[in-house]
Amino acid sequence: MMRITLFSLSVLGASAYVWPSPKLDALESLRFNQDGHNSGAITVFIEPCGRYLFDGPNVLNSKTGRSDVADWVRTAYHDMATHNVADGTGGLDASIRFAEESLRAENIGDGFNNTFQALRTIANRYVSLADSLALGTIVAIENCGGPEIAFRGGRVDATEPNAPGVPEPQQDLDSHIAAFARQGFTQTEMISLVACGHTFGGVQHAAFPDTVPEINDPNNTQSAAHFDSTFTHFDNNVAIEYMSDTTQNPLVVGLNDTTNSDKRIFGSDGNVTMKSFADSPELFVSTCADLIARMLDTVPREVELTEIITPLRVKPQGIVLSLAGDTLKLSGEVRLWNTTADPQRTVRLLWDDHLGGTGNATLTASGVSSAVAGRYNASWYTFSPDPTNPPDGLVLLLNASAGITSMRFVVDGTLEDQGGVGFAVQDGVVYSETSCSISQASPSPWRMDVAVRDGFNPTRAFLERMSTDSTGRITILETDIARPAQPVAVNADYSIWSINVNGTDAVGTVFYSIGYEVDGVKFAGSNTHFSGGLASCAV
Ligand code: HEM
Ligand SMILES: *[C@@H]1O[C@H](CO)[C@@H](O)[C@H](O)[C@H]1NC(C)=O
Ligand SMILES: *[C@@H]1O[C@H](CO)[C@@H](O)[C@H](O)[C@H]1NC(C)=O
Ligand SMILES: *[C@@H]1O[C@H](CO)[C@@H](O)[C@H](O)[C@H]1NC(C)=O
Ligand SMILES: *[C@@H]1O[C@H](CO)[C@@H](O)[C@H](O)[C@H]1NC(C)=O
Ligand SMILES: *[C@@H]1O[C@H](CO)[C@@H](O)[C@H](O)[C@H]1NC(C)=O
Ligand SMILES: *[C@@H]1O[C@H](CO)[C@@H](O)[C@H](O)[C@H]1NC(C)=O
Ligand SMILES: *[C@@H]1O[C@H](CO)[C@@H](O)[C@H](O)[C@H]1NC(C)=O
Ligand SMILES: *[C@@H]1O[C@H](CO)[C@@H](O)[C@H](O)[C@H]1NC(C)=O
Ligand SMILES: *[C@@H]1O[C@H](CO)[C@@H](O)[C@H](O)[C@H]1NC(C)=O
Repeated sequence: MMRITLFSLSVLGASAYVWPSPKLDALESLRFNQDGHNSGAITVFIEPCGRYLFDGPNVLNSKTGRSDVADWVRTAYHDMATHNVADGTGGLDASIRFAEESLRAENIGDGFNNTFQALRTIANRYVSLADSLALGTIVAIENCGGPEIAFRGGRVDATEPNAPGVPEPQQDLDSHIAAFARQGFTQTEMISLVACGHTFGGVQHAAFPDTVPEINDPNNTQSAAHFDSTFTHFDNNVAIEYMSDTTQNPLVVGLNDTTNSDKRIFGSDGNVTMKSFADSPELFVSTCADLIARMLDTVPREVELTEIITPLRVKPQGIVLSLAGDTLKLSGEVRLWNTTADPQRTVRLLWDDHLGGTGNATLTASGVSSAVAGRYNASWYTFSPDPTNPPDGLVLLLNASAGITSMRFVVDGTLEDQGGVGFAVQDGVVYSETSCSISQASPSPWRMDVAVRDGFNPTRAFLERMSTDSTGRITILETDIARPAQPVAVNADYSIWSINVNGTDAVGTVFYSIGYEVDGVKFAGSNTHFSGGLASCAV
């Protein structure tokens, strides 16, 4: 088990990877675009911190006594708790999504299913359900009063349930110590990790009717007996209230002592650890940041996690190219980390082309985002020359012959080019606006045209569509786009490959992307954002 030391984003140096790197880019975006512009995939579920999925999106003060934050933190622990340090099996791998695992007595409650309903909207082709669970847990804790937590990506979703092994409240102290030891945690770490988790949420009547009675409170309709008085907020009240004997924690003061597991665990070192947490919020915060990170990084032995994901200082996002006649349309944005809106700032895009030339454009401020409960801001600039004037004002028009090979940015006169390597852009295979509607049938079939740059020579090109396999993992379905027997030139520099696309697939939220392979290396293309309104194909 890897040790993660406490860190602060503010002391980290230069970016850890070079853009573009699709998986790291996607992990970084989910990690650091938490609120505001281009964000929200995670925070929509946890702002405010008392939000509960089943209250609907507009309920600010949940009356259920439940919260998504508590569900997610408990889910992360229960999913991890199957880990066995001796043989490297189990760990945080989203195996708890399988009914066989979630229906075990040790996983009583509906919190796991609740959590996966949210995670399925967060995960994507680059971010597994398990990474989404880890990241959801981190973003939740960070935004609900807790510390920054180091995040690594790369978790792999299990294809079957793990062996049982989650501790239960009626078990004795020795079995809890043994269970945490199997998971890779000492007795002191067990005390700490339980306190770090039980700062959120509580015990529900439905799951534990013998521990928690019906509460009959209109503000707590699911009768959840909370572990501390601030159950949607990360803080050391769980320890303060325990040490001052005012706690209502149902696993401490429950009438049936057999299920008072927190009482046995918290007291198991003579209260030394709990007293230190009650006395020092800083110690509680730093201990939890370390242990939660370790909990989330406890994965099956064969899984290799990435380095800690740190924010890219200058990061392009949503780069899309399409071909229209002799013109390449370029859209996208760039994010400047740790900056706020500043009307005096000038941001310019320079792009290098295939002919040794350079184009340039002044970018327009498009929004501000923030992360870690507002501790970090970022400002965004769009490539759109005239954002108020769609559709033509939304794209930069490039000469298709010259094309584009890479980008650089100049922020208030300072060149940002990733230390000289630039931000590479691939214009070898792009969506072509000669794509057209085949007939008016409903759902309407259409022809997608892909423009392939002469001399680029991909070995294959394919349509990509996101799907899920039988175990719920996100997969990409590929359909080859046939190379035409004779090149069909669309201009002096590109020829067209075509594929007929089923109308049903084009409806709704399914975005196609175009992938291709060059010299045995596979590239995922940018989204095509097909949104209807195609002209009819000429007959
Ligand atoms: C011996 C170890 C543990 C035992 C016996 C235990 C027991 C319990 C029980 C009985 C509940 C009530 C669940 C329900 O009513 O649905 C609960 C809730 C919870 N547990 Fe633990 N727990 C342990 C360790 C942990 C750890 C290590 C964490 C996280 C770091 C954690 C996080 C949570 C959270 C956040 C809730 C609240 C869930 C909600 O309100 O929806 N627990 N725990
Ligand atoms: C963030 O910006 C502030 C103000 O410009 C600066 O003082 C601070 O050092 C920056 N932090 C990082 C991590 O770059
Ligand atoms: C969770 O969902 C699965 C199917 O997704 C279902 O089979 C199972 O019964 C659910 N478990 C609970 C506790 O609701
Ligand atoms: C429920 O909460 C509201 C505030 O959200 C409070 O005014 C009211 O008194 C509470 N009701 C009970 C029964 O505690
Ligand atoms: C206390 O809880 C245990 C475990 O759930 C149960 O076996 C026992 O019957 C309970 N005792 C009483 C007096 O209810
Ligand atoms: C721990 O502290 C609590 C609160 O003061 C007390 O009730 C309990 O007896 C103590 N437990 C041990 C093992 O010292
Ligand atoms: C920007 O592009 C224009 C032509 O569009 C050119 O005249 C100008 O010299 C360029 N400026 C820079 C700094 O490259
Ligand atoms: C982030 O932006 C908000 C709003 O402009 C500002 O109040 C806050 O101080 C900024 N935070 C940082 C760390 O710059
Ligand atoms: C595009 O660039 C090529 C090569 O420099 C040039 O021959 C052509 O005239 C340009 N097209 C337009 C529309 O400017
Ligand atoms: C369109 O549907 C047909 C029949 O269901 C299928 O064989 C074909 O693969 C589909 N095409 C694409 C591009 O998905």
